[in-house]
Amino acid sequence: MAIVLMDNRLFVLHTQNTTYAMGVDERGVLRHLYYGAKIDRAADFMHALTHPIELWENGSDQVMEEFSSFGCLRNKETSLKIAYADRTRDFRYRLTNCETAGDELILTLRDEEYAFVVRLHYRVDEHHDIIRRWVELQNDGDAPVRVDRIFSAEIALAGEGYQVLNVSGVWAMEQQLHADPITAGKKVYESMAGCTGFSNQPWFAAYRQADERAGDVTFGCLAYTGNFKVIAECVPYHYLNVTLGISDTDFAMPLAPGAAFVTPEVYLGFTREGLDGMSRMMHAFEHDELMPVARRDVPQPVLYNSWYATEFDVFGEEQERLADKAAEIGVEMFVIDDGWFGQRHSDRAGLGDWYVNPEKFPQGLGHLIDHVHSLGMQFGLWIEPEMVNPDSDLYRAHPDWVYRYGKRPIIMGRNQYALNLTKPEVVDYLIATFDALLSSYAIDYIKWDMNRFMAEALDDAGNDGMVWYNHSRGFMRLARALRQRHPNMSFEACAGGGARVNAETLSLFDQFWPSDNTNPLDRCRIQEGYTMMYPAKYMRAWITDDSRLSTSFRARCAMCGALGIGSNLNRLSEKELAELKEEIALYKRIRDTVQFGRLYRLRRLETNSAQIWQYVRGGQCVVITLVDHAAERLAPVCLQGLEPQALYQVGEGERAYVVSGAYLMNCGLITAGNRDRSGTVLILNRVEGA
Ligand code: DGJ
Repeated sequence: MAIVLMDNRLFVLHTQNTTYAMGVDERGVLRHLYYGAKIDRAADFMHALTHPIELWENGSDQVMEEFSSFGCLRNKETSLKIAYADRTRDFRYRLTNCETAGDELILTLRDEEYAFVVRLHYRVDEHHDIIRRWVELQNDGDAPVRVDRIFSAEIALAGEGYQVLNVSGVWAMEQQLHADPITAGKKVYESMAGCTGFSNQPWFAAYRQADERAGDVTFGCLAYTGNFKVIAECVPYHYLNVTLGISDTDFAMPLAPGAAFVTPEVYLGFTREGLDGMSRMMHAFEHDELMPVARRDVPQPVLYNSWYATEFDVFGEEQERLADKAAEIGVEMFVIDDGWFGQRHSDRAGLGDWYVNPEKFPQGLGHLIDHVHSLGMQFGLWIEPEMVNPDSDLYRAHPDWVYRYGKRPIIMGRNQYALNLTKPEVVDYLIATFDALLSSYAIDYIKWDMNRFMAEALDDAGNDGMVWYNHSRGFMRLARALRQRHPNMSFEACAGGGARVNAETLSLFDQFWPSDNTNPLDRCRIQEGYTMMYPAKYMRAWITDDSRLSTSFRARCAMCGALGIGSNLNRLSEKELAELKEEIALYKRIRDTVQFGRLYRLRRLETNSAQIWQYVRGGQCVVITLVDHAAERLAPVCLQGLEPQALYQVGEGERAYVVSGAYLMNCGLITAGNRDRSGTVLILNRVEGA
């Protein structure tokens, strides 16, 4: 049974391989008791409920809690901070109800004196070993309640010596992994960009001793595309407390009488199989449970994007020539980036004016689209809905549609202003505008960009403490409306690179642009961080021009995800085009395994002179090796996830050989040659016979 309730005070959740336990102690505190490898006997946890505490000293900090709140002798970071109308600012509760509905457990905590209710939701996904958590607040009183903080989940890990993994980053160097030992005090990972931003990610992985391959890892991933906060705190009473949810910085939510609020979800997991185990769990869960169903099993086409070739000088005729060349080398989707609309000749003008520029496309955009389709390719277009240049018809018509502070000049980011998505009329206008654009042309794919962060967080209605949150909901309403009206279109989420990579966006989009940086060695590091939580299928990666690096090296780095080409095809020699054609053909042979297979990061570039990634799906295994310094000889690498007794043909042609899965996983194989900056793709196929 997935959910076990005992005596209305002990609650135990089981997935295939894990157990999560909590219970109410004699003081009425909902204690967190355990999360880890499976313990079948739920009754054992009754014992944990009796661990005594010393009430004279920070009583509430001494126990691991399921849902802590500001006040009540707590010094630690907590999940909830509220203020009632009479300025009472703590939440003292009784657990008044516990109910199950299918795979969901709902615990109701009711304030002892005030008509305010917190419901903790746990949905048990046994198959994926994931517990989905969220919190619901309800004001049953007759006066408003101000909510200053409400996180989605709190996770306590018993003992000390934990490290917490997250990423740091800036534009063009996103997703840089770092593990922080949380030995004392706390560490905060946060975004104040109005979206996920570059700095950190809305997830955590906590462990004492773990690497890619093995070790106990507890992790949580927040599905929220706005400002988030993750706090990892070493509480001096021998546990690590992690809280995560909507950032409470500049957050204040008035909850009216009778009103309720539901937080974003957190996906919580535990694995004994190290960081790779965590990633594989999340990748499978994201595929099966989060991705838009209609498109999740559709492989990503090989894409060509003309941004690096032409930048803002987008002209119909030249794009047609690029499309011809793209089709010749095997590209399946041709994409026009920024610069096709309004008076968009640079980043200084035109943003907001979503009509096709007639000088750039004298024969109309439809002509180019027909041409692309006649070449057997799909067609894609770039948009940036949430922004406006001051030099645009949209801004001239609606200067009040952007965020601004009184008399101050509006802050510019990339010469543009942010549209105020908290205004329903702005979102309605954007839905109508883009719905019309997407309906007027035979567009197959949209690259949705966002090139500046929010600054002036002001709500016209005076609800300033909700601006960041409401802005993110405006974005989601827009994205959901376009997705619903164009269910077969593919959407890519880009934000000046990877500032919108998160699990909530993943549920409406089909792929991410992880970074504007396409240098293979930098990309390897970015991709290592990216794949911790997000799948290879969603990781768009382009081959771009760099005469210092071979085509195959650049290509094989991009093959680690969904391959795209960003080169200026009009400038490439016949030889270079032929090389690209070969690489694309190779990618098509491994695409399904890369995009839908299980990923094993056998070696990380961060800690080695080479990155070696292995993907397994059915009888095919693909190993992609990217060597930085060949001088540091590569030892044989042991593969993972194969069938020990099965036979695999390694490589192809005369040099192919057949060995067992057990050999490959224990004795290993040399995956690469001995050249600096080289990339190899090794294909292994399961074969019959001895
Ligand atoms: C930033 C994106 O990350 C690039 O790929 C490109 O689309 C530019 N914006 C266009 O302005």
